[in-house]
Formats: sequence, C-alpha cells, structure tokens
Amino acid sequence: MNRPDDKFALADGNFIPCIGFGTYKIEDPGVAYRSVADALEVGYRHIDTAAIYNNEKSVGAAVRDSGIDRKDVFVTTKVWANELGYDRASRAIDASLKRLGMDYVDMCLIHWPANAKNYSDWQAINADTWRALEQAKMDGKVKTIGVSNFLVSHLTSLEENCRILPAVDQIEYHPGCLNADTVGYCKANNILVQAWSPIGRGRLLGDHLLEGIAHKYNKSVAQICIKFALANGVLPLPKSTHKDRMIQNLDVFDFELDWTDIGDIESMEDNRRYGSHPDEQNFCVL
Ligand code: A2P
Repeated sequence: MNRPDDKFALADGNFIPCIGFGTYKIEDPGVAYRSVADALEVGYRHIDTAAIYNNEKSVGAAVRDSGIDRKDVFVTTKVWANELGYDRASRAIDASLKRLGMDYVDMCLIHWPANAKNYSDWQAINADTWRALEQAKMDGKVKTIGVSNFLVSHLTSLEENCRILPAVDQIEYHPGCLNADTVGYCKANNILVQAWSPIGRGRLLGDHLLEGIAHKYNKSVAQICIKFALANGVLPLPKSTHKDRMIQNLDVFDFELDWTDIGDIESMEDNRRYGSHPDEQNFCVL
C-alpha cells in the first residue's frame, strides 16, 4: 500500500480503500457533517458508520455534498444489536439506506454477534441475521457483507450456516489488543480484518515503547499504530474530529516499520481491550 486510496482485494471480488475514516461517537449532526466533509477533502475515500452511531444522515449528506463520485467513496454501515434476526435486520438495512440517502452501501456488517451468554440459540440468531445481509446483497442494496466483533467461534458457526462467506471482520485491534486467534483465523480464510480503535481510543498515545518507536521514525504514536495495522495486513479505521489529525493519520506511506519494531509491539502485554468482549457483552438482547 502506498496511498490511502490503494485498495485491499476482498474475497467477493470487491475492493476497499486501505484506510477508513471512523465515525464512532461523532454524533452531533454539525460535527459529524463537518468531520466527514473534512475527511473526504483531505483524501479519505472510505467512511465507516453504523446505525448506532446516530450520524448516518450527516455522513450521507457530506458524501453527497463532497462532489466526489459516489462510486469513488466506500461507505460502510452496520446492523445494531437490537436488530438481530431476518426481519429486523432487513428492515434495519432499509432504514440505514434511507437515513444515508443512498440506494446502496458498499458494505454492511452485523455489528455484534449474538453470544452464548445471552442466547442458547445464538448460532441460529446469527445465521438468521446473516441471511438478511445475504438477501440485501442479492437485491443490490449492499455490495459487500461482513461481520464485526466476531470471534473464531462465531465465525465458524456462521460459516456452517451461510451461502455467502463474510468478506470482512471488524474487530478491536491495536497494540496491546491483537486478537491473534481471530486475526489468524481470518487470514487463513480470506476474511479481511478491519481495526476499530487502531490507536486504542487515544489511550496508547503516552505509551513509552510506542513513543520510542515513533521518535525513531519521526512520526507520532498514532501514525505508528496505523502503520502497525497496515504492516500486518489489517485495515485501520482511525477517527478524529480534527483536520490536522485526519491528515496526520493518512501520512503513513513514507516509511516502513522494521520487523524488530513490529516484534516489539507484538510483545507488548496483550491486556488492553478498551471495548466490550464479544462473548461478554450483554447489549445484544432483544
Ligand atoms: P480527536 O477526535 O479529538 O482528534 P481510535 O480511532 O483508536 O478510537 O482513537 C480515537 C481517539 O484518538 C479520539 O479521541 C481522537 O481524538 C484521538 N486521535 C485521533 N487521531 C489522533 C492523532 N493523530 N493524534 C492524537 N490523537 C488522535
């Protein structure tokens, strides 16, 4: 990858720009609109939203008003945890399209799996929700379908019960939270891993090891984290409401991390999961 609009090839034949702009927690309509407009202006061509982010309207408007050809911007949305099952998920996809003001999205993901903690029939629920995504793809409403926060157990169960395999799994991924089992499984099965919170929600910025590596390359810790994901074939989705940081987070193509530095980052204690654990979360309850 040499530029932010260079693309990863997906298993379904589609292509996805190698850095995406994350929009989680950017809820205020004015801020969301401005942030996405700024992101597109500085070169992002991949915007990641979700029904639960409460900003699809602003995202859609900013994409439309950018003047960039719709086909040149990759837009992802997600079906939230209270929309599981075939009927609810189908309606949720239509509602997202309406809020976005789009007749298709480039990608739709199941945001969180139903898990064994909350449902004895979690496998059937995930399979039913997935069927809605498969149908939306066949109807042309969604180009690529995938999942988010799925661990190996959720993926293997889904694969036994689906016609179309997920092309993407979007998980928490950053130094100190490598999810090695899931990433290994995805790599072996041609599922692209996307990293949410690639800079650890900003909480890694003061880490001494990362600061030392950043100093060596004359880069910021945020840039090292983003490059670390790319170096591992993982697609980072950094977010920021500040234009200078948006620019900085794309400026990661003029250096390569030495394998020794990658090894040092991989040796960091793997204990920094900042979001929910997919097997522990309890918001996927209808
Ligand atoms: P802000 O929106 O004020 O710029 P992640 O993408 O890992 O969830 O991290 C997002 C957090 O990191 C946000 O709080 C964002 O704050 C901050 N952030 C994003 N990019 C940078 C950067 N280049 N330098 C410092 N902080 C950043």
